[in-house]
Amino acid sequence: MYQQVQVHRTVYGAGEDQLLQGDGSRLPRDIRKKAGQIQCVYLDPPFMTGKVFRRKRPWGEKGWRKGSPVLELPGYEDRFADEQSYLKMIRRMVAASRDLLRPEGVFYLHLDWRMNGPARTMCDRIFGKDRFLNEIIWSYESGGRSKKTFSRKHDNILMYAKGKDYRFDITRVPLPRGENRQNHMARNMDENGRMYSSIRSGGKEYRYYDDEPVYPGDVWNDISILQQRDPERTGFMTQKPVKLLERMLKPVTEPGDWVADLCCGSGTTLVTAEQLGCHYIGMDRNPETVALSLARLEGKNLTVQSSTAMDGKALRARYDAVSGRLMLEGLDLSGEPWPEAAKGADLIESWETGAIEKDAFISQRRFQRSFQYPALVESLAIGAGKMPDLLLTDAAGTRRAYQWRDE
Ligand SMILES: C[S@@+](CC[C@H](N)C(=O)[O-])C[C@H]1O[C@@H](n2cnc3c(N)ncnc32)[C@H](O)[C@@H]1O
Repeated sequence: MYQQVQVHRTVYGAGEDQLLQGDGSRLPRDIRKKAGQIQCVYLDPPFMTGKVFRRKRPWGEKGWRKGSPVLELPGYEDRFADEQSYLKMIRRMVAASRDLLRPEGVFYLHLDWRMNGPARTMCDRIFGKDRFLNEIIWSYESGGRSKKTFSRKHDNILMYAKGKDYRFDITRVPLPRGENRQNHMARNMDENGRMYSSIRSGGKEYRYYDDEPVYPGDVWNDISILQQRDPERTGFMTQKPVKLLERMLKPVTEPGDWVADLCCGSGTTLVTAEQLGCHYIGMDRNPETVALSLARLEGKNLTVQSSTAMDGKALRARYDAVSGRLMLEGLDLSGEPWPEAAKGADLIESWETGAIEKDAFISQRRFQRSFQYPALVESLAIGAGKMPDLLLTDAAGTRRAYQWRDE
């Protein structure tokens, strides 16, 4: 039978990338060892909204197929005793980020109107005023409209370089010129049939061809926040779009570089880094974000540092000698405030086979529900050999490890 055990690490492949649960303002030693090696750090910390954020997660095949039913779960608290305690945490994280960066590295701090002012002064001190590159305005249309003042419809992203010779290649984020056409310019076609807009100044003609890209300035109003039915959505309330992270990471990184996010939430930065061929370090205080991020990652070369639960919840799984298959039948989650209707493996979001070595689960295969693959594989041919150890993640993001013991 399978018995619950606790592991503190899960290792995929060579385990180089890192995803860990912890306080981003107090980096553990093995992350501090990366000082001077990280090309880009992006921080999207709490904004000091005073809110408690919740998150919604589908469960069972129906939930993943149709987007409902969902579990309403705690997200994270964005509440601080006062401005000083908030700024103390941010100061530590910014200083730690600066230490992590290599000389060519770039730093982004994503905030809004609430803490942008004090944070700018703080970052100027930590990086040096002359290392300030931009205050990016990410403007979007969502939420209500104010009648008392102009509606607040943007976030502020502060951008700093670690050193004078930072990496930045704007040609990696071209925009189609059509979207940015200047209406006051004359429109024409040249002798080769190419359309362009032109303007005369100082006796000279300046031509802007439609088929030549333009490059973004520091006001971004072409990236919308995630919509309710966006396939990218994880149910995490403050999830940022991959498109936004791409715009930030592409010009400052190259494949093989390291990217870090010390408040990674649902893992958007890590997913983007992975897609760009970068290594990554993702950290978050909240244990459930580990499962949330992992579910979005390929994670072929990753170590997850987060202890599995040790709560006595029994796993129902058996080996069927006739078919030679390991049959996953469910977790006994009675006592949890979860839907009565859930049966069998409904409340399991992912499971993986592997081998437990000391305090680590060495993962071999992972089966994960997703909107693309809502049905969970519930049996696996394993032959008559040794029973694999298992690691399961339930719909709330709790991870549990199990080891086979002969009765
Ligand atoms: C705005 S959300 C990040 C959202 C993320 N960018 C995404 O796309 O999903 C802020 C995150 O910071 C985390 N957090 C808050 N304080 C933290 C701390 N001291 N160390 C690490 N993470 C922290 C929260 O748990 C939350 O997941």
